[in-house]
Amino acid sequence: HSTGATVNERLQELCDLLKETVPHYDWVGFYFKNGNKEELKLGPYAGAPTDHTIIPFGKGICGQVALSNQNFVVPDVKAQDNYIACSITVKAEIVIPLFINGENIGQIDIDSNTPDPFTDEDERFLEYINSEVAKIYTI
Ligand code: SME
Repeated sequence: HSTGATVNERLQELCDLLKETVPHYDWVGFYFKNGNKEELKLGPYAGAPTDHTIIPFGKGICGQVALSNQNFVVPDVKAQDNYIACSITVKAEIVIPLFINGENIGQIDIDSNTPDPFTDEDERFLEYINSEVAKIYTI
């Protein structure tokens, strides 16, 4: 790409923009599969720092999406038994896998302090965002 910004710089700007623009997005971040390890590693994010910079596959909402390759919308985090709490203010979460050439390489993860805020519109929007992010890696 010709802008000169690195991939991480561009993803950081995207996280900041999404968090500032969408009222019910209170934490926005990317997790990526960590090499050959069966774990996710935190990438760029906007919002409060989290202790959960490494998440094993299968653990929490994020770890489940690493294995399922499916969107995961959580209207009420308290109703989930396999959930990793990052902040006590979080009420809901949405995780959308990021595919590059059909392979699940990571995900966008969004937390909301609003109960049950995520709709089909968020899913379609974030799928679109991820399809645009995938292009960063293929041009
Ligand atoms: N809640 C996530 C962990 C990541 S934090 O939301 C930033 C989970 O259950 O996987």
